[in-house]
Amino acid sequence: MEGLKKAAAREALKFIEDDMVVGLGTGSTTAYFIEYLGRLIMEGELEDVYGVPTSYQARLLALEKGIPVVGLDEVDAIDIAVDGADEVDPHLNLIKGRGAALTMEKIIEYRAGTFLVLVDESKLVERLGQKVPVPIEVIPAAWRAIAEEVEVFNAEAELRMASRKDGPVVTDNGNFILDVRFHRIEDPLDLEIELNNIPGVVENGIFADIADIVLVGTGEGVKKLER
Ligand code: 5RP
Repeated sequence: MEGLKKAAAREALKFIEDDMVVGLGTGSTTAYFIEYLGRLIMEGELEDVYGVPTSYQARLLALEKGIPVVGLDEVDAIDIAVDGADEVDPHLNLIKGRGAALTMEKIIEYRAGTFLVLVDESKLVERLGQKVPVPIEVIPAAWRAIAEEVEVFNAEAELRMASRKDGPVVTDNGNFILDVRFHRIEDPLDLEIELNNIPGVVENGIFADIADIVLVGTGEGVKKLER
């Protein structure tokens, strides 16, 4: 899978031009993109390119690789955002958030001129929720109430626990993550909106109607899917 992720990340470089502001996603696939982009900038192949990171992971990596980093509040517009995904359906709706960075990812990717998604072929599904739960970022005090409230959607929620820290995962924004397994997601856009209507929900990991292009690393090369 690493080879397929790298191939998609390399292909994504073709979308980057001088003077662009680039949203930098989170996760292992985007990490390859950030590394390759940094190399082009350091070698002088690209000029005046700035990165807007979606997480501490993206920020630290971008700085390490030599990409000038700016905040969302310092730019007039984001030309393109590049990020991975956990699932992609045939309409290019996504589930994101395994890396717990979904809120900043959505804030930046919603505003990008082009949102380019990088995945390997294992992420393609017929229906969202087939393989992974939907992550929901919640205000910590509300986690238990929300975990019960999502049951009306025929779903079960689990508080995401940390692996190298005791207790729950705490996001870059200081919140908790609920991983919610839905029995069937009929309408991703509807569910995305309904979940965000629950008080205490900061954002959820359904990205419906946002992705413009998906580059899929496959055994037969990188395929381009467009909405
Ligand atoms: C982080 C994300 C990631 O983009 C998503 O989990 C894909 O990660 P990877 O490229 O490591 O498979 O949404 O919040």
